[in-house]
Amino acid sequence: MATNAPWLIVGAGALGQLFAASLAQRQRVVLLGRRPTRHVIRLRKPDGTDHQIPARRESLEQWSGPESPALVILATKSHHGKTALDALASRLPPQTPLLLLQNGFLLQPRLTEQWSGPVLCASTTEAAYRPATASGMDLDPDSPTPDVIHAAAGETWIGDLADRHVTLATRVAECLADAGMKAAACQDIRHRLWRKLAINAVINPLTAIHRVRNGELASRAFRPRVAALIAEIAHIMQAEDVPPPAQGWDVFIGDVIQATANNRSSMLQDVLANRPTERDAILGPLEEAARHHGLHLPAIADLYRQTPP
Ligand SMILES: NC(=O)c1ccc[n+]([C@@H]2O[C@H](COP(=O)([O-])OP(=O)(O)OC[C@H]3O[C@@H](n4cnc5c(N)ncnc54)[C@H](OP(=O)(O)O)[C@@H]3O)[C@@H](O)[C@H]2O)c1
Repeated sequence: MATNAPWLIVGAGALGQLFAASLAQRQRVVLLGRRPTRHVIRLRKPDGTDHQIPARRESLEQWSGPESPALVILATKSHHGKTALDALASRLPPQTPLLLLQNGFLLQPRLTEQWSGPVLCASTTEAAYRPATASGMDLDPDSPTPDVIHAAAGETWIGDLADRHVTLATRVAECLADAGMKAAACQDIRHRLWRKLAINAVINPLTAIHRVRNGELASRAFRPRVAALIAEIAHIMQAEDVPPPAQGWDVFIGDVIQATANNRSSMLQDVLANRPTERDAILGPLEEAARHHGLHLPAIADLYRQTPP
């Protein structure tokens, strides 16, 4: 990876802007959105302070180099990833490394198979949202609205599905860490992505269907359905050779429900904003794995049917 070539970040949404704002202070980055905008990112940090971070922002359609990027970070939703990459691909050298930030486990295996260069995947617990599309925090009406709110700092694990690009994953993680993010390379990214999918598969669809905050899922009314889903997910994880967390799936997922009790899940935010959800990236791989292993999993099948696409 060329050390001083720019990194492109595709998708100027919550996570794209957060990564761009963090990296711009240490690394040459270009944030590519659907439309051009001013060269600054207004970021609200987890401590509530507002910052204006200078950052190069261009429209994906118009970007034309001139230099080849050292890395392309794909920060769109899963269902937009392929279209966004296709729009850019003819302007990239075929060996350009990708870093995928998506939740779920749909785009990652597909692009690993289809893209000619290295494909790194990230599993991140950073939490960010765009204020116009979400709430959960009250905005001060007297201050200019930030472009992105960094709700909680987390950690980012980076690896590739075949463990063929460990050096590259390490280098990218070091760059993120230099920029102040908590990041590390790992050799079990597949397991980490599936585990995060397990959490999201319980929390996102139920909160979106019932339009409730995460904490509601711990209530008596939801307990039987949550338990049935976790039991089926545990079954699939075992079939997929994903080791269970030390505390067991129930406690692992229950702890996240408690820790994020006041949050609106990203899928609920999408439903409230009339946007497509990441249902197919999160529940689709569970359905596919169930078919592949010949498992009959009615709770997941019902959930898939009820979840808005
Ligand atoms: N936000 C988080 O805290 C978080 C945490 C962990 C993982 N993730 C994952 O990260 C991914 C991104 O999430 P997000 O919350 O950042 O979503 P988001 O706020 O909706 O951002 C996605 C961005 O991609 C843009 N986009 C879509 N198609 C495009 C195209 N063809 N060309 C250029 N830009 C395009 C969208 O443009 P418009 O603005 O025009 O729609 C939007 O700005 C998701 O898979 C999510 O599951 C997010």
